[in-house]
Amino acid sequence: MPGHAQLSIDQLLRECEQCRSLGLGGVILFGIPERKDEMASEAYAAEGITQRAIRAIKREVPGLLVITDVCHCEYTSHGHCGFVKNGDVDNDTTLKWLAKTAVSHARAGADILAPSDMMDGRVAAIRAAIDEAGFSNTPILSYAAKYASVFYSPFREAAESTPQFGDRRSYQMDPANGREALREIALDLEEGADMVMVKPAMPYLDVIRQARDAFDVPLGAYQVSGEFSMIVAAAGNGWLDLERAMVESLTSIRRAGADFTLTYFAKDAAQLLG
Ligand code: PBG
Ligand code: ZN
Repeated sequence: MPGHAQLSIDQLLRECEQCRSLGLGGVILFGIPERKDEMASEAYAAEGITQRAIRAIKREVPGLLVITDVCHCEYTSHGHCGFVKNGDVDNDTTLKWLAKTAVSHARAGADILAPSDMMDGRVAAIRAAIDEAGFSNTPILSYAAKYASVFYSPFREAAESTPQFGDRRSYQMDPANGREALREIALDLEEGADMVMVKPAMPYLDVIRQARDAFDVPLGAYQVSGEFSMIVAAAGNGWLDLERAMVESLTSIRRAGADFTLTYFAKDAAQLLG
């Protein structure tokens, strides 16, 4: 992705120092392990890349909020978000992985856990596991309304997490369904989510607005890799003014009702808007 690369922990720390000095609200980590396997073992290893990264940031860049993406697609050899049985992701085994991964992130010092897998019952499973491990104050930011979107493609290439067979439509949401998003959000809140997120953002501004009107909890939106890359590519061709397109896209997400936005423009926007 333009302007974005996989980082070693050293590079990550420099990046995080910049983020902190720009006054960003926080960072979200996606780990890419050296070894991928069918059990996503590196996702919940105490010495996994994400766990080491969390500890390093908490130690070296205090004061910067660290959110972790809790999912397994970067850690499985096949690129699916959970345990594959008979060619499809097995929901209940994956819940056990999610609980282990979330606890390992909390132990390493993560401030907020953000499950992005879309398994049924995941928020309850994670909440129970982290409470039992002594992290009842660690909040869960649920990717509650996450659509099966083509706009994740640049991320999957960057994160080496493209599914090797099939797709994610059995666990992510159908783009044609609007009201289902509200049901998914309500369920996640009942299960104990503290904050919820809609993803992608710009093609789903209506969903953000409906969620804002229906629920009185912090609401996030994720301007995903494809949204970002389209704008950067159009600007690169001389078709759009990059800064104006960036600011207008972020403004539209805010106007739709998001309290906070996850975006690959974060540093540029912070520099520009102060
Ligand atoms: C992992 C995950 C994905 C993204 C965030 N977490 C990819 C996916 O679901 O395939 C996408 C982020 C982006 O496109 O910027 N489940
Ligand atoms: Zn995933």
